[in-house]
Amino acid sequence: MKILHVAAECFPLLKTGGLADVVGALPAAQRAAGADARVLLPGFPGIRAGLLDARPVGTLPPKFGPGPIVLWQGRLPNGVPAYVIDAPMLYARDGNPYADAQQQPYADNHRRFALLGRVAAQVAEGFADDWLPEVLHGHDWHAGLAPAYLRQFAMVSGREVPATVFTVHNLAYQGVFPAACFGELDLPPGFMQMNGLEFHGQVSFIKAGLYYSDQLATVSPSYAREIQTAEHGCGLGGLLAGRAKTLSGVLNGVDEAQWNPATDAALAAPYDEDKPAGKARCKSALQAELGLAAEPGALLFGVVSRLTEQKGLNLVLAGAEALLAGGGQLVVLGSGDPALEAGFRTLAAAMPERVAVRLGFDEALSHRIFGGCDVALVPSRFEPCGLTQLYGLRYGTLPLVRRTGGLADTVADCSLENLADGTATGFVFERFEQADFDAAVRRAYALHADPVRWREVRRSAMRQRFGWDGPAAQYLELYRKAIARAR
Ligand code: ADP
Ligand code: GLC
Repeated sequence: MKILHVAAECFPLLKTGGLADVVGALPAAQRAAGADARVLLPGFPGIRAGLLDARPVGTLPPKFGPGPIVLWQGRLPNGVPAYVIDAPMLYARDGNPYADAQQQPYADNHRRFALLGRVAAQVAEGFADDWLPEVLHGHDWHAGLAPAYLRQFAMVSGREVPATVFTVHNLAYQGVFPAACFGELDLPPGFMQMNGLEFHGQVSFIKAGLYYSDQLATVSPSYAREIQTAEHGCGLGGLLAGRAKTLSGVLNGVDEAQWNPATDAALAAPYDEDKPAGKARCKSALQAELGLAAEPGALLFGVVSRLTEQKGLNLVLAGAEALLAGGGQLVVLGSGDPALEAGFRTLAAAMPERVAVRLGFDEALSHRIFGGCDVALVPSRFEPCGLTQLYGLRYGTLPLVRRTGGLADTVADCSLENLADGTATGFVFERFEQADFDAAVRRAYALHADPVRWREVRRSAMRQRFGWDGPAAQYLELYRKAIARAR
C-alpha cells in the first residue's frame, strides 16, 4: 500500500513536541511492515538541511505568496522517502515553525499551511514522479486542508482520488483564522459553511481535516472517547460524536531506535530490565551534571515538557515543598509559558542543590533525564497520548501521571491490588487537584522506602513494550477501511 503522510514536524529534522516523534517513527514502521509510506513536509530550514540525497522533482507556480515553489525529494535519516516543499517566502524562517521570536503566531500561517495541504493534494494526484499514493494521511491542523483540496480537485477532474485519513494529535490546536482568510485559500465558496471549514464564523483548518477525511484517528483510545464530549471536545465534540463510527484511538509507540536504555549513546551507562545497575550511574552522572547534591538515595523527580497550561505543571510548582520535603530532588527541562519558566527558575535559585531547571529544548539532556531520574512527572490536565510517560516506563523512571487520555491508557497505579498482581508501573492520580497530586507524590515516597518493591515495579515498567509495529498495523487496517469508504 502507498501512503503519503503530511505533517509539519519530523524527528530528527525538526521537533517541538510528540508530533515529530510520531512522524519520525510511524512511516518507518509501516515500511518495515511492507508498505510504501512516504512523508511530505514544509521546507523549514531544519527540514531542508536534514533531507538526504535531495533532488528537485518539479516546480509549481507561485501560490499563497511570491516566488516559485520547488518540490524536492530525498530521504530521512531513517531511510523513509520524503518530499519537501521549498517556498522560502513562507518557510525560510529560523526557530519555532509556527511563531516568531516573541511567540506570536506568524500572520500568514493560514497561507503557509494552506500550501502544505494543497501540495499534498497535488502529490496525491501524481505530481511527484507519478508516484500515486492510495492514502493521504494528514496529521494535525497543519495538514487539515489537504483532504479539502483533494475534494476540490476531484470535483473539477471527476477522477478518483486517494482515500484520506486524519489524525488528531491535539484538539486544542485547531488552526482557526478570521473569515476573511478564506478568500485567500482558493477553495470553492461552498466549502465555507458549517458542513465544511466554517467554525463559529471563522475558518478552521482542523475542522476541514475532520469533515473531509474518510477515516479519523486520534492518539489513544481514552482521548478518542473524551473528545466526543462537550467538556473535552474543544467545540468539536458534536462533530466528532457524529463521526464516532469512523473515529479510532490508535496509541502512539516508542521508537526503539531512539529510546532504548541498553543502546542509548546519550546515557552515562547502558542498562535494561535484566541488568539495571547502569541506571544508578546515570543518576549520579545527572546529579553531577546539574549541580544537584550527590545523593544516591534521594528520590529524583524529572520533568521534560512544553511548559503550557495543558501539562499541569502548576501542580509541581505549588507542590514543590511537599515534593522535596521527603529529601527528594527535582529537574525540569522545558520552555514555554513565561510565568512557569519564572516560577521554576526562582525555585531552583532558592535550592540549587535540590532543584535544577534548564529552560530550552535539549534532546540529549532529555535522554539523560529519563536515564537518571527515578520518577517522571506528567500531571497533565489533558493528554491526547503523551510520549514522555512511555519513555519513563522504558527507562525505568516511574511515571507519575493524571488519569486522563493516553496517560490513563498506559500507566497502572501502585495500588495494593496492582502491586499484588505485579501490574503496577507508576503512580496515577484522578482529579486535577493539588491534594490528589500530593498524595501521588507520597505514594512514590512510600514505594521508594521499600527498595525490593521499587525494583519490582521498575522491572514491570521496563518490561512494557509500546513498539510501533502494533500501531503501524492498526493504521494499515484503518487505511483499508478508508479506501473502502472512499469508493
Ligand atoms: P507534546 O507533544 O504534547 O509536547 P509528548 O509527550 O507527546 O507531548 O511529546 C513531547 C516530546 O517532546 C517528547 O519527545 C519529549 O521528550 C520532548 N520534549 C518536550 N520538551 C522538551 C525539551 N525542552 N527538550 C527536549 N525534549 C523535549
Ligand atoms: C500532541 C499531544 C501529545 C501526543 C503527541 C503525539 O502533541 O499533546 O499527547 O503524544 O501529540 O501524538
